Formats: sequence, C-alpha cells, structure tokens
Amino acid sequence: MLDSELMEIAIKSRQFAYIPYSGFKVGAALLASNGKVYTGCNIENSSYTPSVCAERTAFFKAVSEGVKDFEKIAVVGGKDELKEYCPPCGVCRQVMVEFCDPARFQILLGNSPENYRIYTLAELMPLSFKL
Ligand code: THU
Repeated sequence: MLDSELMEIAIKSRQFAYIPYSGFKVGAALLASNGKVYTGCNIENSSYTPSVCAERTAFFKAVSEGVKDFEKIAVVGGKDELKEYCPPCGVCRQVMVEFCDPARFQILLGNSPENYRIYTLAELMPLSFKL
C-alpha cells in the first residue's frame, strides 16, 4: 500500500463524518501490519463528551476485531476543503501509544494524496505515559 493511497482513503473517509456541532470533518485511514486498512471519521454527539475522533474510530474498529499491530495512519481534516494539516488531538495520541511503537509508527498529515508529511509517533508524543 502506497502512502498516497492511504492518504486517498483517509480523504474518502471524511464523507461519513457526523459533525452537526463543529462542522469540522476528519477522516483517518489506519494501516495494520496484516495489510488491512481500517477507516475512521469523527462522530459527534449533542452531549459533546461522547464525541469521538476519526483516529480513535479507526483504532477501535481494528482492536474490536482482534487487530493490534499497526504500521501507520493517515489523518486529514478541515471545515470544507482540505487546506491545513489536522494533527491528532492528545487523547488520540495517547491511544496510539497504547498500541504502537512510538519510534516506528508513522502519522501522515496532509491535504491531498500528493501533499503530506510523515511524522513518527515519538515526534508527536514525546515522553509519553505507559504503565
Ligand atoms: N477531531 C478529530 O476527529 N480528530 C482530530 O485529530 C482532531 C479533532 C474532531 C473532533 C470533533 O468532532 C471535531 O474534530 C472538532 O474538534
């Protein structure tokens, strides 16, 4: 799977975002070590706190199917057209740390299949908490 393909899947996943409150549409595509891609979108709620980010949707779909080894995730988001990068929130970074090796796991942030930058989880979540 090419990184550009993973970006494309993340962009497509944005269409399912349920965002009546923020209007901010996020899509994620998580590549597992078994070669499968788990998609995610953000899903909001009128009570706000039950809302979930696109990244966690993707992770929890995979983990709930017994998959716990991951290579990389592509994340895209914005109000309308994709312009700025959409860096994962702190809670999602903590979820990534739970399942991924920070030195190896890659996070692709961008706004098109051609325009993205690759970060390691260690770069985005230094000195992370683990039990
Ligand atoms: N959101 C994500 O889905 N992922 C991120 O990385 C940042 C924020 C969602 C949560 C909420 O539905 C909306 O974007 C605005 O915060």
